Amino acid sequence: MEGIDVALTVGIHDIALATGHYALSLEDLAERHGVDPGKYTVGLGQTTQTVPATDEDIVTMAAAAAKQIIAEHDAGDIRTVLLATETGIDQSKAAAVYVQDLLGLSSSTRAVELKQACYGGTSALQFAAGLVHRDPEQRVLVLASDIATYDVDSAGEATQGAAAVAMLVSADPAVAVLEPTSGLYTANVQDFWRPNYRSTPMVDGKLSVSLYLEAAEQAWKDYEARGGRAIEDFAAFCYHQPFTKMAYKAHARLLEIHGIDAQMARLDADLAHTTSYNRLIGNSYTASLYVALLSLLDHAEDLSGRSVGMLSYGSGCVAEFFGLSMVPGYRQRLRTSSNQDAIARRESISYERYRAIRDFELPEDGSSTVLEVDGAGGFRLRAVTEHSRMYEACHPIQA
Ligand code: COA
Repeated sequence: MEGIDVALTVGIHDIALATGHYALSLEDLAERHGVDPGKYTVGLGQTTQTVPATDEDIVTMAAAAAKQIIAEHDAGDIRTVLLATETGIDQSKAAAVYVQDLLGLSSSTRAVELKQACYGGTSALQFAAGLVHRDPEQRVLVLASDIATYDVDSAGEATQGAAAVAMLVSADPAVAVLEPTSGLYTANVQDFWRPNYRSTPMVDGKLSVSLYLEAAEQAWKDYEARGGRAIEDFAAFCYHQPFTKMAYKAHARLLEIHGIDAQMARLDADLAHTTSYNRLIGNSYTASLYVALLSLLDHAEDLSGRSVGMLSYGSGCVAEFFGLSMVPGYRQRLRTSSNQDAIARRESISYERYRAIRDFELPEDGSSTVLEVDGAGGFRLRAVTEHSRMYEACHPIQA
């Protein structure tokens, strides 16, 4: 490959988390739905779900996550901002442009939005690696930001949530090297999609579970066929987690196709640390896999020199299996207390308050609204006027 240094290591140099302002208990939602709370807390593996404040959206969460990274690195090296989401605020303009502005990044930057359901964050990571391979002096800011919302009283409502993960992708990374082998799988299926005129997705939940399992298997087989690592080489596995039990189902499938007994002790050993944050945040679509990675890194023993298996799934559907090799000393780069605080400081709300927040609507007729301060995430949606969103930085980010 003339012109490309294949020995160059590229990967995640820094990584940070943000989530929304409120938290709804799944026990309260179960009561409203008239089901045993165990269905949600055990059956789905979810305890609470993040509910964004009325002045929070994918832009404010992405900016709040990215701000932590910008504060510690030379932002002048960032030439590209890639924002992956499936809950975009505009059909045309990239949310990354608002974030570039809020962060005060150079105008000599390309800012783009990417979409393929929950897989989009992984596509951004892979495309970022390609850009850095082309010019190792440059860094790419990858943002995965989503608010998962389903119809009220639907089965999916228990799997809602919201979060953003920001990653700085660079040469010679300090946290994790993106290993070169990827296993890929794409199939044109209708398990989850959201037509332009709908605010909530169309979803066949049972079909999406079975297609996820099939896609995980096929992506793994492609990974194996391309000379990837053996399954026993991985110290842990991160899966896209629409709900944390899904990681257990997918990993059991991967173990079974290798003839490995998928007993709970083995599944827990491979997965338990990856589910702590998603269990509390809920589904964050594009961010979910990287929330799982943060949960693993913040809770596991030192994984320096070890590989972590990553399985990304986006309905519709695209899946990818790849490895991350943890860089010795990566733990010094983690923001464990800040990540835990972002989740712990959410304000618990009643079901009634959740419904009131959910029922809040921004004007769609071009009239102006100035929003009351509601969240406290560092950035906020200040107003909507003539169909345009106006954002502002409002609070110092809590470290
Ligand atoms: N205590 C413990 N577990 C219980 C229970 C109880 N009282 N009641 C039910 N459960 C278990 C069920 O056995 C099931 O577990 P299993 O799948 O391991 O058998 C689990 O809780 C969920 O129950 P189920 O009846 O399948 O739930 P549902 O049909 O109401 O909804 C989804 C589940 C995933 C289909 C739904 O949440 C959904 O549509 N989510 C959105 C789409 C999604 O997340 N897709 C995932 C792939 S991307």
